[in-house]
Amino acid sequence: MTPDPGEIAHVDEIVSRARRSIDDASSETDLREVENTFLGKRGELARAQRSLGQLDALQRREVGRHLNAARAQLEALLSERQTSLHAEARALRLAGERLDLTELVEVRRRGRLHVVERTRQQLEDVFVGMGFVVVEGPEVETDFHNFEALNMPIAHPARSMWDTLYVELGPPESVVLRTHTSPVQIRLMQRQGPPIYAVMPGRCYRRDTPDARHIPTFHQIEGLVVDHGISFGDLAGTIETFTTAYFGADIHSRLRPSYFPFTEPSAEYEITCTICQGAGCRTCSNTGWVELGGCGMVDPAVFEAVGVDAEEWTGFAFGFGIDRCAQMRHEMPDMRVLLENDVRVLERL
Ligand code: PHE
Repeated sequence: MTPDPGEIAHVDEIVSRARRSIDDASSETDLREVENTFLGKRGELARAQRSLGQLDALQRREVGRHLNAARAQLEALLSERQTSLHAEARALRLAGERLDLTELVEVRRRGRLHVVERTRQQLEDVFVGMGFVVVEGPEVETDFHNFEALNMPIAHPARSMWDTLYVELGPPESVVLRTHTSPVQIRLMQRQGPPIYAVMPGRCYRRDTPDARHIPTFHQIEGLVVDHGISFGDLAGTIETFTTAYFGADIHSRLRPSYFPFTEPSAEYEITCTICQGAGCRTCSNTGWVELGGCGMVDPAVFEAVGVDAEEWTGFAFGFGIDRCAQMRHEMPDMRVLLENDVRVLERL
């Protein structure tokens, strides 16, 4: 008798369902279930095996061989699928556990001090190193401190050297936004007698039209030395020492005769133009020198206004622009960038 085609077809049908289930299994657990369903002790192939008993010997052998081949084929497929599911699961787990040490984290942007503030601190450092103390005074001043005690009585023509901004407070023109840091000299000498070695940095205001070298809100650092036997030579030496300390050994100072009501004699303090190293350029109007500020020997009238005995003490004072220093040190052709707050520019200074 030939093997019953019904039995063979039934085995084939089991195999084709098993293959599909193997393919569809999405995890090793799934796959174990598929294995149970088809190859387990109570699985489909086992059941088919048990029904062999009802067949005659020839059929049993044929169908039996077919069943064995089917089992072997499914076992191979299962183990193959098992290997690949295992690899997939492992890859997934590794990806989850992975520590990405190459990740680029955006740097947090930090602010920084404005170049004028940094310049002020550096200037203070130089003077502190030379034995000076740092003193501050108010930005809104009385007419007395800003002008009168500095030897500029009301209606003195020298007042027109400063384009003053008056504040509406008290009698007309009695309170001003300070036009320079010189009033801090007065406040300091009112508070304490000589000897004095002090620098006084701070913000000043003038009704100036902004240009490459002027801005209406700017900063000065004032210097005041009062002691026994202070001479113009001490002033010149202090200025030159400061200049080379701050700007470098090839930048020098020169003093040109000038006039200020509160110093006598007075001078303008100039330094070698840092942009052209003294050769002459647009920024220094081809002179090779740039004015930083004024200086001179303290006028006896100032000593008198604050009660210092001019017969016993002498002194010198100077005042120059901090913004101008920053401009020269960082070689900025136009000072107005300091007020524009363009971070692309400020980041570079
Ligand atoms: N206060 C003067 C100015 O602003 C500068 C100066 C200070 C001059 C001290 C002499 C002495 O122009």
